Amino acid sequence: MSGIKALILSGGKGTRLYPLTFTSAKQLLPIANKPVLFRVIETVRDAGITDVGIVVGDTAPEVMAAVGDGSRWGVRVTYIRQEAPLGLAHAVKISRDYLGQTPFVMFLGDNVIQGGIRHLVRMFLESEYDAQIVLKEVPDPQHYGVAELENGRIVRLVEKPREPRSNLALVGIYLFRPPIFEAVEAIRPSWRGELEITDAIQYLVEKGYKVYPYIHTGWWIDTGKPIDLLAANSLVLEELEPRVEGYVDRDSALEGKVVIERGAEIINSRIRGPAIIGEHTRIINSYIGPFTSIYHHCEIINSEIEHSIVLEHCRIEDIPRIADSLIGRRVVITHSPMKPRAYKFTLGDYSQVGIL
Ligand code: DAU
Repeated sequence: MSGIKALILSGGKGTRLYPLTFTSAKQLLPIANKPVLFRVIETVRDAGITDVGIVVGDTAPEVMAAVGDGSRWGVRVTYIRQEAPLGLAHAVKISRDYLGQTPFVMFLGDNVIQGGIRHLVRMFLESEYDAQIVLKEVPDPQHYGVAELENGRIVRLVEKPREPRSNLALVGIYLFRPPIFEAVEAIRPSWRGELEITDAIQYLVEKGYKVYPYIHTGWWIDTGKPIDLLAANSLVLEELEPRVEGYVDRDSALEGKVVIERGAEIINSRIRGPAIIGEHTRIINSYIGPFTSIYHHCEIINSEIEHSIVLEHCRIEDIPRIADSLIGRRVVITHSPMKPRAYKFTLGDYSQVGIL
């Protein structure tokens, strides 16, 4: 679709993601075996958008190495460098040349939304709205931008209010036409020193521009917040379309929503969905699932794993049962035959171990 562009925000400061510390760009955190940022790119691509600007900051090298030029998804990626995380409205300001007069969807690179944005993009393009925002009822609105509505129209937007006047949070997906550039020029930094997109949208409302809400009813995950990764992973796993691209031998059984990625091998094992087994991972004499993601190049032998995330290049052997666990990269868990009998650990910072 040439009439609309996407602006994906993947800047911000690099902070190590505990307990999975393999990446410093929070947008590259994998959920159901796929970095969140890749999910965002697919979501805008599936809405028919091929021109994608990605705002990058401190973690630019990591993000650019992972995403490349976008051809893997059939989109054209242009990187826009933000010298410091000065706010979501600042990101819009520096992207003005790239966006020109074209309507655009701004998508925060750490958000995942059920059902995609196809309908939303179509609705916006058919409308004459100057801006459309996505809202979701949440139990803890004080952690988000919060909207107040009257008769279905937006009357006020406040960023992370101490005393929220509604439970409608701003989801990190916004649709804009060019008046937003006037707004981002007019506003001043907030108490936290950022140019807030919430304030820019409030400016549009006050100036009489047409700003409309869309209330989202499915789930929405903001992985930028300290979230329950296993819960987020489970939500996304439930959306999997089952597929088998690897090898499953005759002594194995797949039940429910199971994805076996390219080059994976399942030998004499049972995989209970929802579950995903990553590329070139070997599962031998084991039971995996439900609600479990095993990433690429792992080996799981004579073991059982349930409700867990295992990242790349792990080897787990002869462990009767692992549950509710997050396991980082290149972790080895085995029985140790050596005397004296003892648990032997090499654990990274912030590790948590529960022993029977
Ligand atoms: O997720 C929804 C919330 O996102 C909204 O409810 C809030 O109104 C909105 O302000 C935003 O709040 P957060 O505090 O969650 O924003 P955060 O600083 O985490 O930034 C969101 C994403 O944008 C993140 O992937 C980093 C990127 N970013 C952020 C800033 C401040 C940039 O690329 N540049 C920036 O300057």
